[in-house]
Amino acid sequence: MQKNDLMEKIVSLCKRRGFIFQSSDIYGGLSSSWDYGPLGVELKQNVKAAWWKAVVHYRDDMVGLDAGILMDAQVWKASGHTDNFNDILVDCKKCKKRFRQDHIGDQCPSCGANDFTEGRAFNLMFKTYLGAVEGESAVAYLRPETAQGIFVNFNNILDTTHRKLPFGVAQIGKSFRNEVTPGNFTFRMREFEQMEIEYFTQPPEAEECHQQWIDNRFQWYLDLGIQKDHLRLRKHGDDELAHYAKGCSDIEYRFPFGWSELEGIANRTDFDLKQHSQFSGVDLQYKDPVSQEKFYPYIIEPSGGVDRATLAFLVDAYHEEEVEGRLRVVLKLSKELAPIKIAVLPLLKKNSDIVALAKKIKNDLQKDFVCVYDDTASIGKLYRRQDEVGTFFCVTVDVQSLEDAQVTVRDRDSMQQQRIALDQLKNYFREKL
Ligand code: GAP
Repeated sequence: MQKNDLMEKIVSLCKRRGFIFQSSDIYGGLSSSWDYGPLGVELKQNVKAAWWKAVVHYRDDMVGLDAGILMDAQVWKASGHTDNFNDILVDCKKCKKRFRQDHIGDQCPSCGANDFTEGRAFNLMFKTYLGAVEGESAVAYLRPETAQGIFVNFNNILDTTHRKLPFGVAQIGKSFRNEVTPGNFTFRMREFEQMEIEYFTQPPEAEECHQQWIDNRFQWYLDLGIQKDHLRLRKHGDDELAHYAKGCSDIEYRFPFGWSELEGIANRTDFDLKQHSQFSGVDLQYKDPVSQEKFYPYIIEPSGGVDRATLAFLVDAYHEEEVEGRLRVVLKLSKELAPIKIAVLPLLKKNSDIVALAKKIKNDLQKDFVCVYDDTASIGKLYRRQDEVGTFFCVTVDVQSLEDAQVTVRDRDSMQQQRIALDQLKNYFREKL
């Protein structure tokens, strides 16, 4: 399959089956904005739940936070975003088109000329005004990263949880960037979701801790089913490091449009806590409980995109197979991520006893698993539909089920079918899922 074809197929499947729709579609679509449909929202929630479980619930050294999107304008002054969070833009003097300077070479990608205006800084933050009066005192920004909510709450978290170093804070939430060149479906958007960890450590331990988080985060993608040869690490050169970072490694995924960043794991040093102490006048140093020494912890930051991870899981799960001379599309999502775990399907929708039993089975299973009931097509078509959205198992209720209290369970990947007694069904799925 050509790589561009693959991306087109993913976009088409996402729209057709209700994973992702273009925003404001009926008005022609808002570029770079996407809406997650009924299956997309389940998948994205599963990605976030898997992350939260791995980095908060399964660890002893992590807590969570959910800070606001609107923050005091001073936060962004202190963080450096007001002054440094810029793309440099140039205009082609011949065709008048505008480009990011770092995205082009000597020649205009549109007309081939090589006569550009001087580069001008374009700040990526979305500015807004609080309250009814517009003015500098009412200026606020939609956060371009969730991280700052964690730094400004450092003392609140320490005071309420009595944590000792090293410990970390995790947060999932929306961020906003006025990207100059959004694109590649949900890869680069202006409104997107991040899942970020700020891990506070003793400065001499920062390097080792950085490496541990790189390994840990890389493994998370593998554990959720991404193929190993589709994932790689890339260390940033000194010239690409963000203004706050001492070192950074990206986890990259081999998207159909090329290797691209899924998550960055940076050593932010003590930059942020120092800056916020200075700008707010509030001391954000940590006091060692034994030595009573005060210092600014170093911060290791694994920062990933929910939308990018979701897209990577979708791309990686997409498979086409030939079965009995026909094309079968199957999303081989892991059991944690599959939006629907079980579909219950009546073989004959005109038989009211079969329909009643199928609905009863679905109602019973849905207390423990995400299930659907579907009787809108023939069984062959229903199987193909469920394969295409990654449903793990199909349960088919037929005439014989009414007599022997057994149903057919079909496995998504092997397509093998097995008769299972109704009173064993829940246990069977508990074991498998
Ligand atoms: N706090 C550090 C930070 O925000 P970043 O590398 O700018 O670092 C972290 O962003 C992650 O957020 C990226 O690895 C990516 O997954 C996601 N991300 C950033 N910009 C995005 C955009 N415009 N659309 C979708 N995801 C984005």
